[in-house]
Amino acid sequence: MKRLEKTSTRPYPIVLTFDFEGLADAVLEVTRPSCIMIITDSHVAPLYLEQVCEKLKGIAPIYSTVFEAGEQSKHLGTVTPIYDTFIEYQMDRSSLIVALGGGVVGDLAGFIASSYMRGIPFVQIPTTVVSQNDSSMGGKVGVDYLMHKNMIGAFYQPSLVYTNLATLKTLPEREVLSGLAEVLKHAFIKNKALYDYLLEKRDKILAQDLEALEEMTYASCLVKCRVVEADTREMGLRKILNFGHTLGHALETVSNFTILHGECVAYGMVMAAWISFKRGLCTQTTLETIKSLCDDYHLLQPLQNIELDKVVAHVVFDKKKSYGQVPFILIYDIGQVDIIKDVTEDEMRQALIYTQETCQ
Ligand SMILES: NC(=O)c1ccc[n+]([C@@H]2O[C@H](COP(=O)([O-])OP(=O)(O)OC[C@H]3O[C@@H](n4cnc5c(N)ncnc54)[C@H](O)[C@@H]3O)[C@@H](O)[C@H]2O)c1
Repeated sequence: MKRLEKTSTRPYPIVLTFDFEGLADAVLEVTRPSCIMIITDSHVAPLYLEQVCEKLKGIAPIYSTVFEAGEQSKHLGTVTPIYDTFIEYQMDRSSLIVALGGGVVGDLAGFIASSYMRGIPFVQIPTTVVSQNDSSMGGKVGVDYLMHKNMIGAFYQPSLVYTNLATLKTLPEREVLSGLAEVLKHAFIKNKALYDYLLEKRDKILAQDLEALEEMTYASCLVKCRVVEADTREMGLRKILNFGHTLGHALETVSNFTILHGECVAYGMVMAAWISFKRGLCTQTTLETIKSLCDDYHLLQPLQNIELDKVVAHVVFDKKKSYGQVPFILIYDIGQVDIIKDVTEDEMRQALIYTQETCQ
């Protein structure tokens, strides 16, 4: 008998820096492309496309494609004309895709990279807090389908993540704050030191001090990478990254996306902490610590005009879709969470009432 062991994921560098100066060298370290296609959106293109093209000049012919910014573009209808462009430019397996933008660009461009000619290399240049701290790493790529988020996609890793933290200067403040909810989440689920850092350096982080952002993003990326490395295809541990997302996602849908994703995750984390406290899993101090940090980052605005029953019904609907398995992530202490599957509708309703009453 012969036996081969194959490794499932290949490592890739994540560069955190304050400009695009080192971009060409970083790209050449991971690939020698025959041509480069930059995929970006209509908000990011006028801000950064020219700079990025300038820095990549000389490596290979550069093309670009720009789609309308926003989640509403994250579907197959945006993907197919981009494949057409690839064919027109005779892109082959050694062509490189560069995803320049937030999570929508990264997910969509990554999906195209995973599927064109059964997979070509791609580089992420994330320009939002969400993408720099979360979506650009971990290899989940995809698009929405009908009413379902991220329904069509793949696990496909980038060759490089190149983060220029200075790009956050142009990001609208509400998007910055909302994105920080995912960083807080990383602290709550796995890194007490990151929690301490977020508490201590709040003013610098909110003022976008680049050194503070670099330190924060480094710690946040480490949490994401460690969890993903342990469970790339989300069979177990990776689910802890969904802390705050079960009720948060339902809230986002019921609010008709008027409350931003990160804001909903913040409410969701408070609700999960409240359920944990009521079950005796964590202390009241832990619950208040979570709420207070979310407050410090201006994430908990008054929660008005939300039909609580609809939020619960949405979670129940998700549960049916997932064969009765909508896992809740509950918390024991800062940095320590677990996956629990028996949270009741009543607990969810009470958690929503608590959050509504205390976020005034
Ligand atoms: N793949 C994953 O693991 C993962 C994880 C989390 C979220 N996501 C996905 O990420 C998406 C959300 O990502 P997002 O919050 O980055 O949203 P986004 O990509 O829509 O960006 C938010 C807005 O900011 C604009 N923008 C981006 N960078 C900018 C900059 N530097 N200056 C000014 N404007 C800028 C965008 O054009 C957009 O209007 C969702 O589709 C979500 O499903 C994926």
